[in-house]
Amino acid sequence: MEPNQLRSEFLNFMEQRGHKIVPSSSLVPDDSSVLLTTAGMQQFVPYLSGKIEPPYKRACSVQKCFRTGDIEEVGDNTHHTFFEMLGNWSFGDYFKEEAIKMAWEFLINFCHLDKEKIRITVFKGNEDIPADEEAIKLWEKQGVKKEWIFKFDMEDNFWGPTAKTGPCGPCSEIHYDRGKEFAIRECSIKGCGPNCNCGRFVEIWNLVFMEYNKDGGYQLLKQKNIDTGIGFERLVAILQEKNSAYNTGLLQPLIKELEKKSGQQYDSQKKTFRILADHIRSACFLIADGILPSNLDRGYILRRIIRRFIRYARLLNLTGNWYLSLIETVVNLYGETYPEIKNGKENIITVIQKEEEKFGRALAKGLKELEKLQPIDGVVSGSEAFYIYQTFGFPIEMIEEELEKRDLTVNSNEFELESKKHQDVSRAGAEKKFGGVGIKNAQNKEEAAKLAQLHTATHLLHAALRQVLGDHVGQMGSDINFERLRFDFSHQEKVTAEELKKVEDLVNEKIAENISVKKEIMSYQEAIVSGALAFFKEKYPTEVNIYSINSFSKEICAGPHANETGNLGHFKIIKEQSSGAGVRRIKAVLEQV
Ligand code: ALA
Repeated sequence: MEPNQLRSEFLNFMEQRGHKIVPSSSLVPDDSSVLLTTAGMQQFVPYLSGKIEPPYKRACSVQKCFRTGDIEEVGDNTHHTFFEMLGNWSFGDYFKEEAIKMAWEFLINFCHLDKEKIRITVFKGNEDIPADEEAIKLWEKQGVKKEWIFKFDMEDNFWGPTAKTGPCGPCSEIHYDRGKEFAIRECSIKGCGPNCNCGRFVEIWNLVFMEYNKDGGYQLLKQKNIDTGIGFERLVAILQEKNSAYNTGLLQPLIKELEKKSGQQYDSQKKTFRILADHIRSACFLIADGILPSNLDRGYILRRIIRRFIRYARLLNLTGNWYLSLIETVVNLYGETYPEIKNGKENIITVIQKEEEKFGRALAKGLKELEKLQPIDGVVSGSEAFYIYQTFGFPIEMIEEELEKRDLTVNSNEFELESKKHQDVSRAGAEKKFGGVGIKNAQNKEEAAKLAQLHTATHLLHAALRQVLGDHVGQMGSDINFERLRFDFSHQEKVTAEELKKVEDLVNEKIAENISVKKEIMSYQEAIVSGALAFFKEKYPTEVNIYSINSFSKEICAGPHANETGNLGHFKIIKEQSSGAGVRRIKAVLEQV
């Protein structure tokens, strides 16, 4: 079955069973507590949690999703950064029995998968939540043999929430046995089944029985919901009898185009071809949803994706505008299903071109610096390599490649140590970056309080700029002295007087609301998942402080801050000017009232 057909047949199937077809939401979610859309359910969280009465009780969609957690795995048979998910939902309507019946009917009667090859996993229970015996019975009722049903714990068979709190529940996964010939490694385990790392079994559909809310512990929701997700790429691969989606109509046209451009064979460098195809597709989708490369949250993800594919392109000796025809291929493949890809084509090209130029300039500078290195016995020290990596954004793999050409190597252990050391001292660095004068230099309590207030005002300003100008705004620098705050941020044009007024009003509104400033300590990873804003990824220690001003602002930051916004005074912007290409600078004061 062709991909376009599978998408529409799935939606028709669900529509005939009373589901409202809902278009894919953007990769930039409404919910500011998450960075990117990672699952089909995200746009429905208010309905699933029961906070908002849904306009329909059943929904289905084909959703654009993006996950960065597995970026290093991209290039194997089953991992992608961007992917699509087919899903159906019940908001307090049908529950387990019907969800299981429908999934079975779709896969077996409609897609004609061999039912002998289906394996099922269910939640085995723990001290908070009981084992899902009901699901086992319901699967048996469909004709699944007992020995084909596997029980796993929380890590495998409990889904959500996507943020720190929210709807979640035990899940039951449908896996498909692709046979020994599809395994990626030999396996002699007796009873080998889903989750065996031989890769013979592929998860195709996850059915979540969403009846809990997590907020500290687990509470039962008012309503029982269903949330499901089919890995579209995986199902396409199975239906086309290919070992990977990279070998199906979804990504092969990109790989063919890369072969044509480079004159090299996919079979000789599979991983490089796959990474390129994956990353070009995902960059197009991120840009089409309004993301721009930057050093901040989503922008940073996009920057990494683009720079990574430029780097891999070099391995195939692809230079110049090689990506133009690949963007064209993405448009041909996806433009009809996702018009934003077609309409955004010119913008996609411009953004990638600009980022390539920027990366090129940084690399040229880095290359010059490479010439100045002082290797000892052909080995460059870790600290010298780290300097180039950090100052010029020169990826370590490329430093190694360049050095190899000069018959040199890097002391990679030392390089690792240097990176770690840098992370450890970063807390102090972050404080300096935020604080300018730094609280430790304040002479008395009043001065310390003033700095903390300006610091909190900086967070309010940042959030207000993002609200008024858009999510592309990211902090590029900040400095505070006893008189004023100074804030540099990414934005292409001059901020108009009208926009400045809006920003000022919004900050003063938040001051008037006298919101308390909340501090939490969590791991960097958790912080990012929770949607907190951060700068350069490398600059943070493993444990970070998150400061939130209710849902308006949430940033990783060393602090300190005012306890509440009420005593900041009146916020006033005194200057707006350029501070480099694509960067604006605002100076502002807090007037006592
Ligand atoms: N939300 C579930 C998942 O993403 C269906 O696996």
